[in-house]
Amino acid sequence: MTDRHDLPAGFRWGVSTAAYQIEGAVDEDGRGRSIWDTFCERPGAVKNGDSGRVACDHYHRWPEDVALMRELGLDTYRFSLAWTRVQPTGRGPANPAGLDFYERLVDGLLEAGITPLPTLFHWDLPQALEGEGGWLHRDTAHRFAEYAALAADRLGDRVPAWITLNEPFVHMVYGYALGIHAPGRTLMLDALPAAHHQLLAHGLAAAELRGRGLDVLIANNLTPVRPASDAPEDRAATEAYDALHNRLFTDPLLLGRYPDLSAYGVGPDLHGAVRDGDLDLISAPGLDGLGVNYYNPTRIAAPTDPGLPFAEAPIEGVPRTHFGWPVVPEGLYELLLTLRGRYSDALPPITVTENGCSTDAALDDTPRIDYLAGHLDALARATADGIDVRGYCTWSLLDNFEWGEGYGERFGLVHVDFASQQRTPKASYAWYRDLIAAQRAKS
Ligand code: NOJ
Repeated sequence: MTDRHDLPAGFRWGVSTAAYQIEGAVDEDGRGRSIWDTFCERPGAVKNGDSGRVACDHYHRWPEDVALMRELGLDTYRFSLAWTRVQPTGRGPANPAGLDFYERLVDGLLEAGITPLPTLFHWDLPQALEGEGGWLHRDTAHRFAEYAALAADRLGDRVPAWITLNEPFVHMVYGYALGIHAPGRTLMLDALPAAHHQLLAHGLAAAELRGRGLDVLIANNLTPVRPASDAPEDRAATEAYDALHNRLFTDPLLLGRYPDLSAYGVGPDLHGAVRDGDLDLISAPGLDGLGVNYYNPTRIAAPTDPGLPFAEAPIEGVPRTHFGWPVVPEGLYELLLTLRGRYSDALPPITVTENGCSTDAALDDTPRIDYLAGHLDALARATADGIDVRGYCTWSLLDNFEWGEGYGERFGLVHVDFASQQRTPKASYAWYRDLIAAQRAKS
């Protein structure tokens, strides 16, 4: 079975997590309040009234979690730093106790032979900055660069590569356009400055990191977009959706310009957010890697209501995850080929920074094994076609707090009993461990 997924020698195997989804300990060691602490208190915002207050209690149990990773044989652990542990209000001097925690974690990982790959922002903005407008406010980008510098000053001697942002598209759309994630704003297209200011934050932070000799990546949620039919209206809608979901982030990073958003009635300055010089900063050469978070493709048809230039169409005839997401492994192959076709030499090496599925199969999680096997097969085909993919991090190590869904969607290789905090490896954990060992033996 492992033969199907042969990946190049030196390929790096990993898992991903994020601070608010696993850490808990929200009031400890001077951590400040984030927009997710606030959002979870809003009645009805999160299923079952769940929150990340305790989550997987990883803040206290990280040695056990690192041991689980060591046993998996990982090369890489992608996790995120909570900005509010480093700067409780998003500005000012570092909170040493917050950085101490990440230093302990980093040292523990290195001792286990695992390279830490931190993400600086995985959606948990300091509430104090949201009070000033959050990502709608240009100044947040400058605050982010200061935070990046503080983190890099403490950990840069041991952490070679950093991811600036996680999924700025999802954060903008769910958080600022639709209000289903923190901070719960419902601005629709007026949320677009939140895209630009996140990208500006990436550019400013990247300069700080590069200046310290560190590698810089960014992780985007990307989806191959397919038209529901060959009708010109469906094709035009598909292009419009692709511009918003994919190109809005990758074009400025890799080509130094925003895509055409005229189908949305939006000009190239994104509602006045873009200033002279911003795009040069955002596209500054030297992006060391593009993180791709892939879960499923998207099928698009002509709009049915006048508000947006597209409508989402269902994908029929494929299995679905517990979340209801269509399982289409070849979508990953298609996506990687599209990226190479679109950006050719401007495309940096790729790391799949997230891929995985939720299932309610407790320990015998065959649907997850099938999902991962199918996607690794697609990835192997892409590398065989010459696409430079350096590593793969599955989402996720542990069952954890799945944002607006609370604890109802389980993505982990390891089952977590949230009442006792007991960790139990699932069948997929053993499968992934054996796959990594077999791949390593070959290379
Ligand atoms: C993307 C996000 O980065 C992560 O936080 C989330 O849990 C997974 N997708 C699954 O939805």
